[in-house]
Amino acid sequence: MLKNAIWITGAEGRLGSALVELLKKDVDNKVVGTDMDVDITDMEAVEQYMKVYRPNIVINCASISDVQYCEQNMVQAFKVNALGARNLAAASRSANAKIIQLSTDDVFSGKAAGQLTEFDVPDPESVYGKSKYAGENYVKELNPKHLIVRSSWVYGAANESAKEDYFSYVVNHGKSHTPFQAPLDRIGSPTGADVLAGFIRCMLDKAEYGIYHASCEGMCSRHEFATAILALMGYDTELAKGYFSVENRGRISILLENLMMKMTEIYVMPQWFDELKAYIEKNKESV
Ligand SMILES: NC(=O)c1ccc[n+]([C@@H]2O[C@H](COP(=O)([O-])OP(=O)(O)OC[C@H]3O[C@@H](n4cnc5c(N)ncnc54)[C@H](OP(=O)(O)O)[C@@H]3O)[C@@H](O)[C@H]2O)c1
Repeated sequence: MLKNAIWITGAEGRLGSALVELLKKDVDNKVVGTDMDVDITDMEAVEQYMKVYRPNIVINCASISDVQYCEQNMVQAFKVNALGARNLAAASRSANAKIIQLSTDDVFSGKAAGQLTEFDVPDPESVYGKSKYAGENYVKELNPKHLIVRSSWVYGAANESAKEDYFSYVVNHGKSHTPFQAPLDRIGSPTGADVLAGFIRCMLDKAEYGIYHASCEGMCSRHEFATAILALMGYDTELAKGYFSVENRGRISILLENLMMKMTEIYVMPQWFDELKAYIEKNKESV
């Protein structure tokens, strides 16, 4: 019997492709993925798709996620990250469907020390962070059946043509034996797309709403992350050249605490290193 009809936007991207792959394994789910073929900034196209496909769950992974690109293209960033989310929230509300909106640790500035919970007030600084926060707010206002999932440093696309992430950037440098600069002072929690998709799958049939942080446990610098990838892949760890980055002055780190997950005991995120090791062991031949 059909359990859920699920519409995943941004299905060619890192997380979207991992989600399509995972959710399609459940034969009781009907899953469709769209990317630029259904432009989420086009309200008419979104409404039309809702009417034809009639999902009871919409998962919005469509996004402009490149922080530098967003700084230089504010209109486009807000159009996709804020108005796109607004369109999907309004259309899903009309269809009485639940919306799962993906968001980011960049809704926080990184200036506050310590771990940030779902109850801390966002203070985004970048265009990317501000546009994602605006998207969160639209989703909260327009569809009461919402779940906002914030994550960080997502790696590991199921789709080979997805944009390069930090993981593939490091692997490509390892393969070509090319040295690269890796910040010692950018701290975060690398999170595998597969484990994040696993959490989202677990939330599909739960009557849980609101904001959930979903990052792997523990933290590291970009340099530590790069060195771990090189070591686990069998490449020369000396290729990662540690440095202190100018752009990070004043920014301590952004560490999401998965407080809602711990309180509800719905899911346990693994330690970032254990997840990275498991991901590489599973995918060593294909990455
Ligand atoms: N990557 C991370 O480290 C990270 C961390 C925390 C949270 N997140 C969040 O997780 C979600 C998924 O991120 P991701 O890393 O999977 O992003 P991604 O790889 O960049 O994928 C996003 C997809 O959305 C597509 N898209 C862009 N504009 C669109 C539009 N107007 N209509 C329909 N599709 C559109 C993109 O197409 P094009 O490639 O053609 O632009 C791309 O295929 C986002 O909400 C992001 O904010 C990501």
